[in-house]
Amino acid sequence: MGAGQLARMAGEAASALGLSMAVMAERPGDAACGVASEVMLGSPFVAADLSAFTDICDVVTFDHEQVDLEIVAALAAGGAVLRPGAETLELAVDKAHMRTVLDAAGVPVPAYLVVDGGPDAPEAVAAFGEAHGWPVMLKAARGGYDGKGVWPVHDRSEAGAILADVAGRVVVEELLPLEAELAVMVARRPSGASAAWPAVETAQVGGVCREVLVPGRLEPDVLEAASALGQKVAEIAGGVGVMAVELFWSGGRLLVNEVATRPHNSGHWTMEGAVTSQFENHVRGVLDLPLGSTAPQHAQVASVNIFGGPAGEDPAHLLARGLAVEGAHVHLYGKEARPGRKLGHVTVCGDDPELVRARAWSAAVALGTPVPYGTELPAGVAR
Ligand SMILES: Nc1ncnc2c1ncn2[C@@H]1O[C@H](COP(=O)(O)OP(=O)(O)O)[C@@H](O)[C@H]1O
Ligand SMILES: [Mg+2]
Repeated sequence: MGAGQLARMAGEAASALGLSMAVMAERPGDAACGVASEVMLGSPFVAADLSAFTDICDVVTFDHEQVDLEIVAALAAGGAVLRPGAETLELAVDKAHMRTVLDAAGVPVPAYLVVDGGPDAPEAVAAFGEAHGWPVMLKAARGGYDGKGVWPVHDRSEAGAILADVAGRVVVEELLPLEAELAVMVARRPSGASAAWPAVETAQVGGVCREVLVPGRLEPDVLEAASALGQKVAEIAGGVGVMAVELFWSGGRLLVNEVATRPHNSGHWTMEGAVTSQFENHVRGVLDLPLGSTAPQHAQVASVNIFGGPAGEDPAHLLARGLAVEGAHVHLYGKEARPGRKLGHVTVCGDDPELVRARAWSAAVALGTPVPYGTELPAGVAR
């Protein structure tokens, strides 16, 4: 369901296992259409579309969580196999629900308040800001991704202006000074059997993931605690296939930020860096097949995202330059190039953290990726 780059890479993994993947795409040019054995056009918010799609599939899984949960639940009640199910998906669909469920289960999360939309919302946000200190983080409960739907808010009037444009519930939470962000990928079968890859460090700029470092700069005991927390969250969520747990490292505390109930940008490194990739284990998990080893194959891995440059340069035209960088595993998603659009990623594995990061950035830059202001590049990478 959905035909973005995650479905594309899951389809590549399925193909290696001799399986065929159909996709329901919103547009014929979507990233996964080129690798799917069958493409249906439709919307995950239209019951007839979802129903027609589940009819041609043994198992349906998801490329993104922008789906209608009532339709998913109704199809499952009618016998269709959708993995993960609506209850798990709801954690990724609705940040207010996710915060509330994890908090109630004793998972450490940022201080937060769920605020219903309506005339009283600005007052509730302002009261939270007075109690916890400005600025605060305001998040639309539904519909956000890649930093869209997330706003730092400095005072009552700014809160009012943003809330005027947001439909539905919001979550207001403390804006934490982040020393680092981490992610834990966990694969699960319907029985609950699970396997987790090591926790990794992620770097977001403007809410968008730019690079992933394995293991990154944090101490092993922090990474192990993050991994344990991620696995606990996956169990609470009842995930099937892979899921991502995003965490904050702030003031000596690990806090869970959010979950994605599908393959995730922070797991792309596993394609070359681990014994089994997140995409293969996603396919295995949703088909209830034995999971593969999540052990890393290299001491150090860096994965850097490729974005369209200011003039919309297409990295496909720069492929030779990217591939000329030693050790660069280049993945282009076949998406139309637009400024700022995520178009691919490059992964480099090795033993030296500086070297793998330098090579991955060199290849991403050679493929036209603009370097965000404030990003500290390793020595030797030309912007
Ligand atoms: N409470 C917070 N304090 C500080 N930074 C935050 C907070 N919440 C989110 N962020 C920053 O914004 C990014 C995007 O927020 P997130 O809730 O993960 O939304 P999205 O669904 O867009 O990924 C995070 O990766 C982090 O960098
Ligand atoms: Mg996020």
